[in-house]
Amino acid sequence: MNIHTFANQQELNEAGAGIIIGLIQTKPDAVLGLATGGTPVGIYEELVKSYNKGRVSFKSVTSFNLDEYVGLPEDHQESYHTYMKHHLFAHIDLPAEQIHIPDGNAADAEEECNRYNREIEKAKQIDLQILGLGHNGHIGFNEPDQSLVSGTHLVELQPETREANARFFDSIDDVPTQALTMGVGTILKAKTILLIVRGADKAEIVHRALTGPITTELPASLLQTHPNLVVLLDAEAGRLFV
Ligand code: PGA
Repeated sequence: MNIHTFANQQELNEAGAGIIIGLIQTKPDAVLGLATGGTPVGIYEELVKSYNKGRVSFKSVTSFNLDEYVGLPEDHQESYHTYMKHHLFAHIDLPAEQIHIPDGNAADAEEECNRYNREIEKAKQIDLQILGLGHNGHIGFNEPDQSLVSGTHLVELQPETREANARFFDSIDDVPTQALTMGVGTILKAKTILLIVRGADKAEIVHRALTGPITTELPASLLQTHPNLVVLLDAEAGRLFV
């Protein structure tokens, strides 16, 4: 495990984007696993800047997003489809047919999860999976539980997760109660995992996830088993790693 702590957000963003760009430069048809939420926004901004300067092209890249809310219209301003367009896809040359995000409005959620799993299998392996971390230790929307599901599946969001995401909605009642998420098994199959954590409010959970017991009650703790985990922390989130 490689843990890097950064004094400011800009340095973290440039380091994160640098890892992604370095991969695409050596492997133009790289398969990226992408995350949403507040955490990766600055990294996506750096990717767009580099694209605009002609330093990277995404035309042969394939992407798979981790998750999507169930029941939000695809064009809702808080859907992860909209998030990805707004922060990244509208600004780069990644072809639409190479973009994959679970369909949270599929009539048959189970069939949609199976379809998504098949698409990931067709791509062989995710080269680099970007992850944020939930305050309860979730990765993707894999919430703490007595057992975890390996592949893409339907989840009930925990109250804590809905509260954390309520800041993006008018009220907590508007936050969906369910989501489709890639499973931890799929996440762990990625060749490299890039975990990004920011903020004092996540210092304790990221420390526990990476140094404490491995347990499904803290899904991110399973990342300790991954042979190629890179962790980028801001100074506040990295406070306990001294
Ligand atoms: P955040 O969410 O990036 O909005 O803090 C992270 C997560 O819940 O995985």
